[in-house]
Amino acid sequence: MSDSPLQISPSILAADFADLRAGLEAIATADWAHVDVMDNHFVPNLTLGRPVVEALARVSPVPLDCHLMIEDPDRWAPGYAEAGAGSVTFHVEAATDPVATARAIRSEGARAAVALKPGTPFAPYRDLLDEVDMVLVMTVEPGFGGQSFMTDQLAKVRQVREAVSRRGGEIWVQVDGGVAQDTIGACVEAGADVFVAGSAVYGAEDVAAAVAGLRATAAAHRCG
Ligand code: DX5
Ligand code: ZN
Repeated sequence: MSDSPLQISPSILAADFADLRAGLEAIATADWAHVDVMDNHFVPNLTLGRPVVEALARVSPVPLDCHLMIEDPDRWAPGYAEAGAGSVTFHVEAATDPVATARAIRSEGARAAVALKPGTPFAPYRDLLDEVDMVLVMTVEPGFGGQSFMTDQLAKVRQVREAVSRRGGEIWVQVDGGVAQDTIGACVEAGADVFVAGSAVYGAEDVAAAVAGLRATAAAHRCG
């Protein structure tokens, strides 16, 4: 387990796309706003791109946590940092030169992170810990919200947390996909400290209460 703060990053993929400003304002008590960028090639879904991220960054009460599910992140990822994202995550499966890409993101002033799909092992990418601020372990197949949490990914979360602890330094471990009241505890116990939740937050009647609820459950599992 880590002792870094537990952070909640609601995914606006589950918000009303006709009113994203309201969606952002509703999560002002969260730590980040998770923005899923999909290009219809890396994943079979298409969402939004840099111009929209730029617009969201101007009105968001919390920093943007951009999750790029796109091909050729080497070319495109630094542009999202330039657009105003506070954190830019790209997939190792899509990157040709992840070291250069992470450095380019950081040089634009954002945190850099790498994401692993459920079928992608962590071990070959361990050395990237020298270049990133966060590792995202996907707990669903990327592409869509509302899928079931993949419990078998917790072993990878544990593996990443152990590698981060051995190495030292402040590298966050994020989980994304199916994170809700009934799954967040196991994520905390495995060593995650940043939690993306789409449907569990925006599907709730009271969005702010859902954020607070996830935070409380996460905190209870770290102590327990
Ligand atoms: C899936 C996205 C997730 C998604 C999570 O590809 O990366 O961020 O919005 O949605 P839920 O929390 O509903 O699984
Ligand atoms: Zn995501």
